Amino acid sequence: MPCWTAVFLLAMTNNSTSDVLLPATIREQFACLREGGSQPPLVYLDSASTALKPDGVIAALTDYYRNMPANIHRGLYPMSEAATAAFEAARATVQKFINARESREIIFTSGATDAINLVARGFGDGLRAGDEVLITGLEHHANIVPWQLLRERRGIVLRVVAMDAQGDVPLDAFRAALNGRTRLVAFTAISNALGTELPVAEMIESAHAVGATTVVDAAQAVACRRVDVQKWNCDFLAFSGHKLFGPTGIGVLYAREALLQAMPPVKGGGDMILSVTFERTTYNELPHKFEAGTPPIAQAIGLGVATEWVTALGFDQIEAHERVLVDAALKQLEALPGVQIIGRPGKRRSIISFTLDGIHPHDVGTILGEDGVAIRAGHHCAQPAMEHFGIPATIRASFSVYNTLADVKALIVGLRRVQEIML
Ligand code: ALA
Repeated sequence: MPCWTAVFLLAMTNNSTSDVLLPATIREQFACLREGGSQPPLVYLDSASTALKPDGVIAALTDYYRNMPANIHRGLYPMSEAATAAFEAARATVQKFINARESREIIFTSGATDAINLVARGFGDGLRAGDEVLITGLEHHANIVPWQLLRERRGIVLRVVAMDAQGDVPLDAFRAALNGRTRLVAFTAISNALGTELPVAEMIESAHAVGATTVVDAAQAVACRRVDVQKWNCDFLAFSGHKLFGPTGIGVLYAREALLQAMPPVKGGGDMILSVTFERTTYNELPHKFEAGTPPIAQAIGLGVATEWVTALGFDQIEAHERVLVDAALKQLEALPGVQIIGRPGKRRSIISFTLDGIHPHDVGTILGEDGVAIRAGHHCAQPAMEHFGIPATIRASFSVYNTLADVKALIVGLRRVQEIML
């Protein structure tokens, strides 16, 4: 049995004390949350930025580097074959995780940003001047800038559906922005800046009704809800491993096979070819056509383990757990004088953005950090979303499976201390 499997199985035999909250024993699988891990103890409320990594994921990385640190798809010796098998098994695990039809529809990238850029190049470069790409006012820069670059290359028209005062993107406004020239619609499933959850399936259905192709940025979604590409019926979907309790440097582009078959490769190099002469190159079959060069092997294996880990926790339990935390945090934040909650979406996931009257978010982040409370302060790579609310930055608390109600309390106590110091 590989060592990470042992860690994983051990971790799953917990003593649940509540039918709503996940067991606090989950925390024992995270080195930096274990008692004595840091002084003061870490209160980690920045999982929207990157999730902590359970021991099982770290063990999988170490296992690769210690026991099979060979390149893949190239070596004919056992260690290379073992590495290839582990890498391709990770792809199959990811396929199952998002319910893709085929493992060749899973392209490993360096992250969600890289995946969206791949679509912008591979699919977007096939668009013509005047074709429209539609995004929403909620998007992360990674789902804005690649389309602006495409506009510069191809003369496409980039259109934006604005969010409303609550931080929602109303479906009727979205539908009104679609038309016969809309070729591509790219939007986030969950806003990293506000926590808004968009009606993904309905938006995709509307986009398809005008013949548009869809790209879902699932970077925030994959760790907190079940993502099923067949249920959503999306054409492209992007996410990162590191927000899913996996390693950095690995991400996924899911795409329908027919789209990938029709797209030219975006990067040239080893492994993406069948044959090369100076006159002509023929390309490898899917998914390798889009994976030039030595891929992030250890990271892909680690991502496979991370998806198994999160699946074993169960998305019903994860959703219920995060709901308790976010509801408690909202209630306690609202009771604190001087707190302004930014965005009141109809459906919120485990992210809350807010400001403190008279105090810059960066000062809040620094003082909370001294107390061991890790939040993100800034524009969250979503400057247009900040501009919508007329502010440069927010304080953002994001909750995950290892957070507890004690973490919510620590945030509130910390914010009171910030106010004492700064006001
Ligand atoms: N996209 C990441 C965040 O929201 C970095 O913090």
